[in-house]
Amino acid sequence: MCMHRLAVLAALLLAACSADSDTPQSPAAEAQPATQNPSPSNGLQPAEITLSKDPNGLDLIDVRGLAKADSPAGHRYELGKWLFFDPRLSASGSMSCSTCHLPDKAWTDGEKLSKKDDGSTNKRHTPTLVNVGYCDKLYWDGRAASLEANVVAAWKGQMSADPLKIGSALAAIPTYKDKFQKAFQFDPNEENIGKALASFVRMIKGENAAYDRYLAGDANAMTQDQKAGHDLFMGKAGCAVCHTPPRMTNLGFHNTGIGMDKSEPDMGRGAHLKDPKWNGFFKTPSLRDVAKTAPYFHDGSAATLEEAVRLMAAGGRDNPTKSPELLDRKLNDGEVKAIVAFLGALTSEVSFTPPTLPQ
Ligand code: HEC
Ligand code: HEC
Repeated sequence: MCMHRLAVLAALLLAACSADSDTPQSPAAEAQPATQNPSPSNGLQPAEITLSKDPNGLDLIDVRGLAKADSPAGHRYELGKWLFFDPRLSASGSMSCSTCHLPDKAWTDGEKLSKKDDGSTNKRHTPTLVNVGYCDKLYWDGRAASLEANVVAAWKGQMSADPLKIGSALAAIPTYKDKFQKAFQFDPNEENIGKALASFVRMIKGENAAYDRYLAGDANAMTQDQKAGHDLFMGKAGCAVCHTPPRMTNLGFHNTGIGMDKSEPDMGRGAHLKDPKWNGFFKTPSLRDVAKTAPYFHDGSAATLEEAVRLMAAGGRDNPTKSPELLDRKLNDGEVKAIVAFLGALTSEVSFTPPTLPQ
């Protein structure tokens, strides 16, 4: 029922967003593919976005149900799941991807800033992996151009991995060797380890939330508070311009001013592109599962969801390149709390069981 209304609203909000020519927009935000229900009145498209292309040709095939299926897709997904949880992928032998991306915390780690395998501290907060398969630019500053590039960089950078050494170690474990052969007809190496990890990570999605049931027509799926928060989020509070449904991100980069009041601010996308126009710009995080991913922001500076919402609704922090869509929405306490309640309706109802690793 309200699917259509939402789609139109999202289209309007997007239009408002792209009409602003002063703000640098990422190509990702501009080039959203057209899909369902174009609004007949204004010809604009709703904000549906699709999974990034899997170089194995597995795009848009949901392989999660196929764990036992004897197909390359099923084997790559299953292999990626093992690798993601396997500490033998790190130099020390004690850190896996899941050390920082824990399924119970919607694939974050609860730390403000986490420590890498070599003991040094990360400069940015661990983001969720929910919906990263929809991103064509990865990391807070968008510096990785594909999920495959991102996971290989994460593997080497976070876990001090020597791919050659770890590839041979995995090849010496018969169950792994057999799985690599089934998935890639090849022994483990940097490239296929990256592909397998990406196949797994691409399937981490925000779904089956109360909000999805509400969108599907179950008016009782959200509480009164959550519905009030939903209406504020989509309307008066101006959140959906950037946190666009249904993924709750426009995949774009914006300057909300977080951390810009520090003496040496992290310039985010500006530092990556070496272009001051983008200083303080970071990727809009998907708000799917956000109730489980405290603390918040690229520097982990907000301890609670309420604190993060309050700051956003007040227009972020002022600085010379702040995105103009962020305004002080003058919300009262009840309105802020209603938005927090709505964000709780974005929690996926999926259960995930970590794999038993080959020995
Ligand atoms: C020590 C903690 C740590 C470990 C281990 C780790 N990551 Fe991350 N991960 C991070 C941090 C911090 C970032 C954000 C870095 C940035 O944006 O500059 C990140 C970002 C990412 C992103 C990008 C998300 C986005 O929204 O763009 C992906 C994907 C990812 N990691 C996957 C992995 C995989 C796969 C592994 C294992 C090979 C892994 N990570 C291991 C801390 C970790
Ligand atoms: C101009 C685009 C824009 C608007 C409008 C906007 N946000 Fe955001 N939001 C962002 C960006 C970009 C970040 C990441 C900021 C950072 O960490 O530097 C963010 C971060 C957040 C976070 C933290 C998420 C996390 O995983 O760390 C929450 C919660 C949030 N926003 C809620 C809201 C709410 C609620 C509104 C409306 C009142 C809103 N935002 C309006 C762009 C926007």
